[in-house]
Amino acid sequence: MTASTTRPETTRPATYSTSQKALHWGIALLILVQVPLALAMTNVGEGALQNQLYEWHKSFGLVALALVAARVLVRLSRGAPGAEAGLPTWQRRAAGVSHAALYGLIVLVPLLGWAGTSACCAPVNLFWSVPLTLPISGGMPVGERILGVHTVAAFALVALVALHTAAALHHHLVRRDGTLRRMLASR
Ligand code: HEM
Ligand code: HEM
Repeated sequence: MTASTTRPETTRPATYSTSQKALHWGIALLILVQVPLALAMTNVGEGALQNQLYEWHKSFGLVALALVAARVLVRLSRGAPGAEAGLPTWQRRAAGVSHAALYGLIVLVPLLGWAGTSACCAPVNLFWSVPLTLPISGGMPVGERILGVHTVAAFALVALVALHTAAALHHHLVRRDGTLRRMLASR
């Protein structure tokens, strides 16, 4: 999402809204739960526990996707504040590119998981109840291929989030600017 770099300065909001902050941290928390959950479910061995972990992983992932859809809509309609004053151009560009890539991956990762599971392992239910299977044909071979891409994309997301977190901490602890504070709840 590069609206922060493409919108004219006058039309950019001065801060992130409460909903933008809540969605940022809610989605971050879900993703940070999803990764160890996924590693546990694929390594625990077959059985009732594995089935339960799969169900939690799929359901949390679908909740994350719904929140991401809301977040993208808020971002497109409201925009985001410009970078802190004095930031070198290359760092502004790096922030714009990495934020766009983060948005791309938080849409793509759960979508691929949903599509792959719908193809290989229907039905896909939200928390053991609401049926949400996508109409994707091809069975196990197609499902496995899509889930392979889902896994690679998920680990790329983890790597980018690590970089993003390091950048946020660098702003806060080394540059001592307001970048992290403006994504935190305002007092
Ligand atoms: C934020 C969302 C998500 C994240 C961060 C995420 C992350 C991951 C990761 C890291 C793995 C690899 C685990 C491993 O190979 O050890 C994985 C596997 C898997 N994910 Fe997700 N996932 C998300 C959403 C979803 C959704 C929405 C579904 C389905 C509705 C799903 C279904 C699966 C399945 C079935 C596997 C196992 C693939 C296999 O056995 O090779 N995921 N996920
Ligand atoms: C899965 C985890 C995370 C994801 C997917 C994520 C994603 C994003 C995205 C897409 C933006 C751009 C917001 C916009 O332009 O609308 C953003 C901003 C931001 N994130 Fe994260 N984030 C995550 C975790 C974190 C963590 C752990 C921290 C801090 C320790 C953090 C700190 C920030 C800050 C300070 C901003 C504002 C940057 C600015 O205004 O230039 N994020 N995040």
